[in-house]
Amino acid sequence: MGKSRFQSSLTKKFVMAFAGLFLITFLFVHLVINMLVLLPSGNAFNIAAHFMGTNVIIKVFEVVLFGGFFIHIIYGLIVQFQNWLARPVRYRVEGWSHTSPFSKFMIHTAVIVFIFLVLHIIDFYFKAKFLGAAPPVEINGKEYHDLAIMVIEKFKMPVYVVVYIISFVILGFHLHHGFQSGFQSLGLNHPTYTPFIKGLSLLVSVVIPAGFTIIPLVILFGNY
Ligand code: HEM
Repeated sequence: MGKSRFQSSLTKKFVMAFAGLFLITFLFVHLVINMLVLLPSGNAFNIAAHFMGTNVIIKVFEVVLFGGFFIHIIYGLIVQFQNWLARPVRYRVEGWSHTSPFSKFMIHTAVIVFIFLVLHIIDFYFKAKFLGAAPPVEINGKEYHDLAIMVIEKFKMPVYVVVYIISFVILGFHLHHGFQSGFQSLGLNHPTYTPFIKGLSLLVSVVIPAGFTIIPLVILFGNY
């Protein structure tokens, strides 16, 4: 690979890392809001989901979010193909993060997370927004979509819960390498911060999937 191709590959990794770290922020917000579905009444979750679905600032954020997914996926595929085509160079340019066993499976975990995401968005987002899957509910005299009941109905089905939990675990593998690799691509792989970033990456890759896993499990085995 020539110098300019190498540099353009680094630029792509930089953009991809930036988009990826932004997506992790989304995951945290999504997790916190989803946790509200576990409260005895679905009202807080429905109000929060309504706010997220109608607030103008959040709507702009949503466009950025889908753009972020798009950029992350396209650049991820390009970087992966460039790596496959330039195998010997790859070993020279990759740094400490490449030692992680998860790094070898980034494209595989990415494909599985992508399939999960497509099914999840069809099922939870499009069906609620366009096919009336979330029935109307009145809260304090105002009408909302009962997304809470929609989520609960899905997670009362064991097959759903199993597919979701497997997807969360695979998302965790993807995040584990992706988080630290993202920092490296942003040029933050100084020996001083490396152990901290590695620790944070482990924390993020455990806390996010574990947090998401609690939701279907509590619904399946709880009194909802
Ligand atoms: C227990 C786990 C989860 C539950 C209960 C859940 C629930 C939901 C619901 C109800 C919506 C529709 C929101 C609306 O129409 O306003 C939604 C949308 C979405 N979810 Fe999830 N989700 C879960 C996990 C995930 C995970 C792990 C990801 C990413 C890997 C994800 C990514 C998205 C995206 C991108 C959207 C569309 C954007 C948005 O409206 O916020 N979700 N989710």
